[in-house]
Order: sequence, then structure tokens, then C-alpha cells
Amino acid sequence: MVMKNLDFRSDTVTLPTPEMLQAAVNDQVGDDVYGEDPSVNELERLGADMLGKEAGLFVTSGTMGNAVAILAHTNRGDEIILEERSHIYLNEVGGLAVMGSLMARTIKGDMGWLRPEDIKAAVRYDNIHLPPTSLLCIENTHNTAGGIPITVDQMKADWDVAKEHDLGVHLDGARVFNAAIALGVDVKEITQYADTVQICLSKGLAAPVGSLVLGPEALIKKARKYRKMLGGGMRQAGIIAAPGIIALTKMVDRLADDHENARILAEGLRKIDGIEIKFPVLSNMVYIDLSGLGWTGREWGEACRKLGWTSRGSSATVRLCTHYGIEREDIEAFLDGITGIVPNK
Ligand SMILES: Cc1ncc(COP(=O)(O)O)c(C=O)c1O
Repeated sequence: MVMKNLDFRSDTVTLPTPEMLQAAVNDQVGDDVYGEDPSVNELERLGADMLGKEAGLFVTSGTMGNAVAILAHTNRGDEIILEERSHIYLNEVGGLAVMGSLMARTIKGDMGWLRPEDIKAAVRYDNIHLPPTSLLCIENTHNTAGGIPITVDQMKADWDVAKEHDLGVHLDGARVFNAAIALGVDVKEITQYADTVQICLSKGLAAPVGSLVLGPEALIKKARKYRKMLGGGMRQAGIIAAPGIIALTKMVDRLADDHENARILAEGLRKIDGIEIKFPVLSNMVYIDLSGLGWTGREWGEACRKLGWTSRGSSATVRLCTHYGIEREDIEAFLDGITGIVPNK
């Protein structure tokens, strides 16, 4: 039975499936720092195969995965190119500056996509005064652009311009399986246009902990060393890797349900006077603008609480995420309830 989880804040709140919990209990563990944990090894191999990469590395979180990948690609003093509202730039505690001594060159994306001409213009040329540009980071789906999937053609266009300038390409693919499902393509079609990819097991895929970094052997070897440096070398980590295997083998296809639920949620909310849907709803996120109601996220959160839901936001814009644990009938009940609570316009 799926446990109800009436929480719109994020797909990070997902609870593990009963099968994941069972797998954690049954796991045969070993010391992963010595490469001896069978489930970690299996998970790393599986992730690499699914994404079409040579090697994989299990890390504690998406933030750690992005950090070790970026460190593996760069040298101190390099400049890296990122979208100005990307998670790595906004929400990873400035790790690239602290740990990598890197400069961030941000570009405003077009719905999260970095236009090739803007990337080209941002790459530094060879001059004694300038830092070298060494890496391009892409986020797919792009969270603050509304969970928009960056298409395969868009990925290729960015990859081509990056490679013309000898840049590495790192994909923050925290939700790259959402992108693949939304675009109706195999995830490899997307990830072929990145050297390294970070994927989160602990978001829509519902594992309790962990991310993977996938990429070429040489870069993953460097990333593994950085993981150890950051204190991320885990010992009997199979206990958390075993649920990760189930996340990859059993939880990817059902992301389509989350997307459908997000679409139904958006359609229902759109009918309420005073609520505006901010972006096209193409994956598991719905961004709403409440200014027409004269509300901020605080009033919205209180209204949701009355219905038994958790939702949060400080400004008039609130993000709602659909995920495992929220079923279609929950969305329908929520829409019925919220329609009766919002002020009548
Ligand atoms: C796009 C994106 N990248 C990376 C992360 C970081 O993942 P974690 O919270 O596991 O560090 C998040 C987390 O929400 C995210 O949304």
C-alpha cells in the first residue's frame, strides 16, 4: 500500500517504498571505501549503464554529487558557466567558490536553457588577464524555470558550442528522468550531451538517501577522491544503496503519473479566479502566482493545512510538486477543498 504523503513542498519529501525498506534490511554489506559493498557496486554500474556512461559514484546528496563532479572537471581559478537561477549557483552554499576556488559566470537562460550564442559570448579567450573557462553546467529539468525539460536538440546545441571551446559539460540531472519521461525519450538521448551527470535517487524516485555521479572512468576516479576528501566515503553504504537500486529499476516509469497529476492540478487551479499558473506544466512542478488573490505563500500554506496538506512559500509565488505518495484522487480532493477556501473574486 502506498503511504499518503500530502505534501506539495518538494519531491524530496518522498517516503521509501516497502520494497526499498525490505531491500535495506536484507542487504549484504561491505566497506565501500575499499570498493567492497556489493549493492553500492551494483548501483554504480546500473546508473552508469542506464545513462550510457563508463563509471559511477554513489554520493550522499545531489549537492555533493555536483560538487565532486565540478571539482573533478576544474582547476583552482577557472571560470565555469551556469544558468543564473540554477540550483548549483543559487542553492549549493557557494561550494564552487569555497571548495574549488572557482569563478561563476552566470547567464540568463531561456526557460532554463542556455542559448549557444550566450555560452559562446561568455567563454573567455586566451589572454594573460583572464581566467580560463573550463566547464559548462546545465540543469535538466530546470527547477526554477518551472520543471521545464531541456530538449535533446537544446542539449546538443549547448554541447556542440561547449566542445568547440574545449569545455567540459556537467549536467545537474537531479530530475533528468523527469525530463526523459516528459520528452518521451530514453534518458541516454539527453545524457549523451554531458560528460558527467548527477542524478538524485532521493527525489521523485523515492529512495531515502543518495545521488549518483556518472561519467568517464578518469573523471569518476577524481570525483571519488574528492568525495573522500569531503568526508563522503561511506562504509557499509549498501543499506542505503539497495533502495537506490529499486529507485532506478522500479520507480522511473511511474514519474509519468506525477506529471499527469501536476497537469490535472494546474488545470484545476487555473479555474480559480486570482490564481495564475506561471509556467507550462511539463513535469512534476506547478508554480502558482497568488497575487490576484492578495495572498502570499503564508495564507496559501494555512489554507492547505486546513485540508491536511503541507505547502510553503514566502512570496506570492509558490511551487507545488507532485510525487510518489500523492495519487490522482488526492489531487481531485485537494482541488475540491481549496476551491471552497480561497476568497471569492
Ligand atoms: C536541480 C537540483 N539539483 C541539485 C539538488 C541538490 O540535491 P540534494 O538536496 O540531494 O543536495 C536539488 C535539490 O533539490 C535540485 O533541485
